[in-house]
Amino acid sequence: MCGIVGYIGYRKAYPILIKGLHRLEYRGYDSAGCALVTDGGNLEIYKAKGKVADLEAAADGKDVSGELGIAHTRWATHGAPSTTNAHPHVSMSGDITLVHNGIIENYVTLRTQLEKRGYVFKSQTDTEVLVQLIEFQQKLRNCSLEVAVRYALKLAIGAYAIAVIDKKNPTRLVAARKASPLAIGIGEENKEFFLASDASPIAEYTKQIVYLNDDEVAVIERGKDLHVFTLQGEEATAEVKEVDVDLSMLDKGGYPHFMLKEIFDQPQVLRDCMRGRIVNNIYSSVTGQAHEVSLDVVLSAVSNHRRELLRARRIVIVSCGTSWHAGLIGKQLIEHFCRIPVEVAYASEFRYSDPVVDKDDVVIAISQSGETADTLAAIQLAKEKGAFVYGIVNAVGSSIARNTDTGTYIHVGPEIGVASTKAFTGQVTVLTLFSLALGMMKGTVDQQEYQDVLAELVKIPEKIEVVLKQNDKIKEIAQQYVNCRNFLYLGRGYNYPVALEGALKLKEISYIHAEGYPAAEMKHGPIALIDENMPVVFLTNHHARYQKVISNLQEVISRHGNILAIIHKDDETVKKMVQNYIEVPETISCLSPLVSVIPLQILSYHVAVARGLNVDQPRNLAKSVTVE
Ligand code: G6P
Repeated sequence: MCGIVGYIGYRKAYPILIKGLHRLEYRGYDSAGCALVTDGGNLEIYKAKGKVADLEAAADGKDVSGELGIAHTRWATHGAPSTTNAHPHVSMSGDITLVHNGIIENYVTLRTQLEKRGYVFKSQTDTEVLVQLIEFQQKLRNCSLEVAVRYALKLAIGAYAIAVIDKKNPTRLVAARKASPLAIGIGEENKEFFLASDASPIAEYTKQIVYLNDDEVAVIERGKDLHVFTLQGEEATAEVKEVDVDLSMLDKGGYPHFMLKEIFDQPQVLRDCMRGRIVNNIYSSVTGQAHEVSLDVVLSAVSNHRRELLRARRIVIVSCGTSWHAGLIGKQLIEHFCRIPVEVAYASEFRYSDPVVDKDDVVIAISQSGETADTLAAIQLAKEKGAFVYGIVNAVGSSIARNTDTGTYIHVGPEIGVASTKAFTGQVTVLTLFSLALGMMKGTVDQQEYQDVLAELVKIPEKIEVVLKQNDKIKEIAQQYVNCRNFLYLGRGYNYPVALEGALKLKEISYIHAEGYPAAEMKHGPIALIDENMPVVFLTNHHARYQKVISNLQEVISRHGNILAIIHKDDETVKKMVQNYIEVPETISCLSPLVSVIPLQILSYHVAVARGLNVDQPRNLAKSVTVE
């Protein structure tokens, strides 16, 4: 969702901006644009509806010189996707230009006031208000760009990350943030600076990164130290972090789409996620020979916050989308191993629900991007109410990672495909480790079960590999469903959230309507929809309630439903009952989501590809939802 890139230095800005926009494409957008202060001192703006490639076509053959520029990918909120509404927006004098992520909530009031003072607006965006307001403040106060930016932002209500340039002063770039991420990369000896919504466009140039905090304004000048100010004008500390992004993870690595690569990445990234967190204890006998091996979870965030976690009377999980589905699995894991009641709330509902939360509650925020606006707001509310907040996040250094009291990174590498895959299995893996570690600390987990789950968890990557080998078979099965209009996904217990996630994956990228349901709940409504045209994806690979699931399966068969079952290998009973099946290796119940979600990810991928759709950037969706 909206991406910002900026450059000031000694190289040509344009190629850096374009490459950076490509790096941010995964966030989802519908138009793109860039502004350059050219060698001749002109401000050149190029924009296009559509993709970054369309922007490149629009700038083709034009003046793209200059060593200062800003660029943007826009995901429409106020005003349809169009060249006019695309950023950068320019002030009335034509001197100041700006790109913006976020929403200015009081833009109508500000716009009306500016219009009364003679300002003319060209677009329908909330963003254009900001650039006019900055110019108005600059003229009113006869001040520098950064001071005008500060005064303008004090009047703006809402969320923003902005980058602003003034063609009259081409040695500086001003940036600011509130509730929308912005990272500044510092080149060698301050000779150049890079600006972006996340570290991915910066990583190949420098590892030295400053993440702006809310209500901070950065003044970035070629050849000078970076200066950061509060909105009140006091100098703030620019904390430089060493950020290492594995660049090979940002490429498709030979796969046709990021989503397929990320599905296939899962065995390796889950090993990375567990590395150093599951350790072997080898007890030696007096003879010096190892005779007993046990496994242990080491999660520093849990052991370092013993007091806050042990006093939790309740845990509330807040998240959105796929992360919310991981939260539903987390609830079952934590309640089982830690015997603490858990609620799972959509962050967007939690923040406006006047929630009963206090200092004896622990709030767990789950987020792949670490930037989801609703989840971030839910965290802030929970903190105000005194709760201890634990983050389970993928993007290192992201806003959620920085705003939680402690947390555990899932370490699955950048996820580029809009439909989340490896982040989901990473989140479930960390939730498993978290509940085992906390359960052990509380004394609520059975020692043998603790050992059994850990011994099985380390085998999960191999079991996922077994499922991935069936990619071709799943692709064939997918062809049968390409023209279907509705799907039902059913599962019980730990596999109920997997049914929800399978349905979400299908609708996100194939635009086929799909619903997930707890298998037994089907009788209370969805059964009315079942006939021979209704594909039903049934997750039967669940030990504890296998017989119950078989009964639910019979109910669908009696209504002539077209069943695709996810089964344990060699489950001959179900094989004979259904039209299609995909085998997954057996595992223990609480870990079954980690294997049973894989065929559902692959199935949606192949259905979407067969329908000729843009798998990595589905229509209307954004990877990082930075507006509420
Ligand atoms: C968007 C993405 C989903 C993601 C959700 C929550 O809708 O398209 O894939 O699950 O946001 O995002 P988060 O980054 O907080 O996990």
